Amino acid sequence: MNADWKATFTATFGAPASAVSARIWTEVYGDEYPAELDTYSFVTRTDLHRIAEEARLEPGRRLADLGCGRGGPGLWVAARTYATLTGIDIAETALASARRRAEALPLSDVEATDFRVGTFADTGLDDASSEAVMSVDALLFAPDKALACAEFARILVPGGRLVVTTWDFDGQPQNRPPQVADHRPLLESAGFDVLSYEETPDWRARQQRTMELSLERVEDLAAESGEDPSRLRASLEQALRNQDLMTRRVLMVASRR
Ligand SMILES: C[S@@+](CC[C@H](N)C(=O)[O-])C[C@H]1O[C@@H](n2cnc3c(N)ncnc32)[C@H](O)[C@@H]1O
Repeated sequence: MNADWKATFTATFGAPASAVSARIWTEVYGDEYPAELDTYSFVTRTDLHRIAEEARLEPGRRLADLGCGRGGPGLWVAARTYATLTGIDIAETALASARRRAEALPLSDVEATDFRVGTFADTGLDDASSEAVMSVDALLFAPDKALACAEFARILVPGGRLVVTTWDFDGQPQNRPPQVADHRPLLESAGFDVLSYEETPDWRARQQRTMELSLERVEDLAAESGEDPSRLRASLEQALRNQDLMTRRVLMVASRR
């Protein structure tokens, strides 16, 4: 059965960020967990610094964040690089939260932001409208990775940078869209030169520990979200099994030819 990711993420982001999960991420990631950004991913401070550096943005240039969630990572990178930001996500509830986050920032932090509904296959952005595109732990939800790579290429200017964290898989995880073993051939076919394709530090042990602690605290998580504890347990157990099929969490950097 194909999951309805729009409905799933709309429900997730319709609720406040989970305090139980935030405590787990803090326990596992320590200072590397960017608690102030309300992330819904495994992004670390080290990843964020790499993304800002590799985006090679000059002040006033345009950054797009695809699968932006509550907007924290994109706003952090835009503030650091003085770029303008467009965040794209399938979940309107995530975008509403991202807009509130942007409005709460001091005016000087990010000059201009826009958060819009769109998908990896159809962002709604104009051709060559971004100098950089980023995406954090979201590309695995794109049903067609080749189409997503073509869309990255379409919205970037020639020479524009793509910086993405996602996972390569050996096999097809259950209840997830189709995955790939290596994103490099797709990027190259779509018109990119792949500049770097690196595993992020200690990713497997950290993810494993995060899931184990979530399972230990499933009752607290369920009480917080109002979900049925046994359904939540089943989906966490599924996520743990899916993790065995992950061969790497990769931070990829590519340049649009
Ligand atoms: C694991 S969350 C990561 C969110 C955010 N990047 C972060 O680091 O907090 C994955 C995000 O991808 C979004 N998403 C899922 N499928 C998508 C699609 N086909 N197109 C665009 N975004 C999608 C979800 O709504 C969710 O916000």
